Amino acid sequence: MNQLDTPSLLLDYQKLLTNIYEMSSFAKEQGIVYRPHMKTHKSIKIAQLQMEAGAVGVTTAKISEAEVMAAGGIKDILIAYPISSPDKIKRLVKLLEQGVQLKIAVDQTKALSYLQTELEQTPFTLEVWIKVNSGLNRCGVEPGKDAVILAKAIMSHSKLKLGGIFTHAGHSYAAKTMDEIETIGYQEGLAVVESANECEKEGIRIPVRSVGSTPSYKIAGKVTGVTEIRPGNAVFFDAIQAGLGVTSIGRCALTLLASVVGVYKNRVIFDTGSKSLCLDKGAHGNQTVTGFGHVIGHPEIVIERLSEEHGVGVLLQEASLKLNDKVQIIPNHACTVVNQFDEYIIHENGRVIDVWKVDARGMVK
Ligand SMILES: Cc1ncc(COP(=O)(O)O)c(C=O)c1O
Repeated sequence: MNQLDTPSLLLDYQKLLTNIYEMSSFAKEQGIVYRPHMKTHKSIKIAQLQMEAGAVGVTTAKISEAEVMAAGGIKDILIAYPISSPDKIKRLVKLLEQGVQLKIAVDQTKALSYLQTELEQTPFTLEVWIKVNSGLNRCGVEPGKDAVILAKAIMSHSKLKLGGIFTHAGHSYAAKTMDEIETIGYQEGLAVVESANECEKEGIRIPVRSVGSTPSYKIAGKVTGVTEIRPGNAVFFDAIQAGLGVTSIGRCALTLLASVVGVYKNRVIFDTGSKSLCLDKGAHGNQTVTGFGHVIGHPEIVIERLSEEHGVGVLLQEASLKLNDKVQIIPNHACTVVNQFDEYIIHENGRVIDVWKVDARGMVK
């Protein structure tokens, strides 16, 4: 691996498989299904490995990510994002024409009429899932009564079919303790199940009740009545997850191979700056990480600053690194780092075994 040019995006094949099987085994043990979020890996190959491990389909954030997944043969896709512009709805119709079993998020009554109007020009109906807010305060209707109101509105649109209720507890990243994550995960599960139960009391069937964030899915996924989990980051893990206590640093599958390009009295410079390592440091107000990435095998180095192409590693004690030495750095946030690279270098026991494309790199539309 030391022959590789830097910076390179490295993926440990065995750790990847372990991480995938951990999610799928959890789902199997709970008798629920697994629909991983692909925004972390943006790779057809990795989505296919997840499908082989039992995933029922994938979750995407963007239509362009769904288009890439569909082209890669993944035909059951949740776009967990509110969509109401006519141009974007036309792209959804294209996916339906390709036979994709598509579902999208809805959380606004007004969006229903935009969807209905566009779909009336086609032979298709579209499956929609209600997004409820379980505490992140981003998108989503409030659980319970408001979810029922939206469910009734969906039922009155002939071109829409209500398939499920879901939430994403992204505020789990701001938790200070595992106990707090436990509470958030439990509330996440309840927000979905109680909303679904309220709908069913009114005679509206809710087949899918879906939850998922990497910190919380093992708690929310155990709440009775939940039928699906959607973890994304857990396919790789990263320094933020290790800092939260969700995993250990040894389980992180994704690293950057970096070179030492400068050695000074109290610092070393790596060729990985904000354009490769990214500036994330965890949820606002909850910085569980030290610096901008974990330099494997070098606890004496803290990457204190990033400029675009330089990572400044401050030495807490003397380091043995010399010019042109290579190190592996576990990024703070794997999902944003992946989007900076064209390909993964796949390795096993220190040997490069393959190169996989980051197929949906830059797909933000
Ligand atoms: C709707 C939705 N589902 C699932 C996930 C996966 O979360 P994580 O990467 O924490 O597993 C996300 C992450 O942004 C999301 O927005």
